[in-house]
Amino acid sequence: MDDIAALIMDDHAAFRRGFARLDDARGETELRAVWDPLSLHLDIHAEAEESILYPYLVRHGDPSAEEETDDAIGDHNKIRDAIAESRRHVPGTDGWWAAVWSARRENSEHLAEEEDGALADFRRNASRELRAELGARWLTFYGEHPGGRDLTFQDKDPRAYVREHR
Ligand SMILES: [Fe+2]
Ligand SMILES: [Fe+2]
Repeated sequence: MDDIAALIMDDHAAFRRGFARLDDARGETELRAVWDPLSLHLDIHAEAEESILYPYLVRHGDPSAEEETDDAIGDHNKIRDAIAESRRHVPGTDGWWAAVWSARRENSEHLAEEEDGALADFRRNASRELRAELGARWLTFYGEHPGGRDLTFQDKDPRAYVREHR
C-alpha cells in the first residue's frame, strides 16, 4: 500500500501543475476547465489532511507539531476562503484572477511549509506500517467523497482543532 506522505506529495505536484496550466489557459471556458477541478482537488486535499494526517501529527509528532498544525489549518482556511471568493466571479475577470492568485500564493507558501515541517516531522515519527495504513485511509477518503460529495469545506478554528485532537 502507498505511503500517505507520498500520496500527499503527489497531490502537491498536481497543484503546482494545475496552477501552471492556468497560465496557458485562454478565455472563460479554458480557465474554468482548469480551475474547477483544481480548486475542488485543493479543497478535498485540505479536508483529507485535516481528517487523517494532522490528528496523528498533533498526538504523535515532535514538540513543534501543535504549532505546525495550527499554521497548517490557518493556511487551509486562507486557501479555502480564496477558492470560495473565486466562485463568486466569472473566470477571467479581475475579481476572479485576484482570488485565484491569492489561492496560488497561499498554496505555494503552504506546500513549502508543509513539506519541510509537518511532513518531515511525520516521516520522523510514523512507522512504515502506520504510513501505509494512513495511505489506505487517504485513498478511501477520496473514494468516499467523489467530487467532494458530503464535504462542506468549512474553515476551522486552528486552536480549537489542535485542542480537539490532542
Ligand atoms: Fe498538503
Ligand atoms: Fe495542507
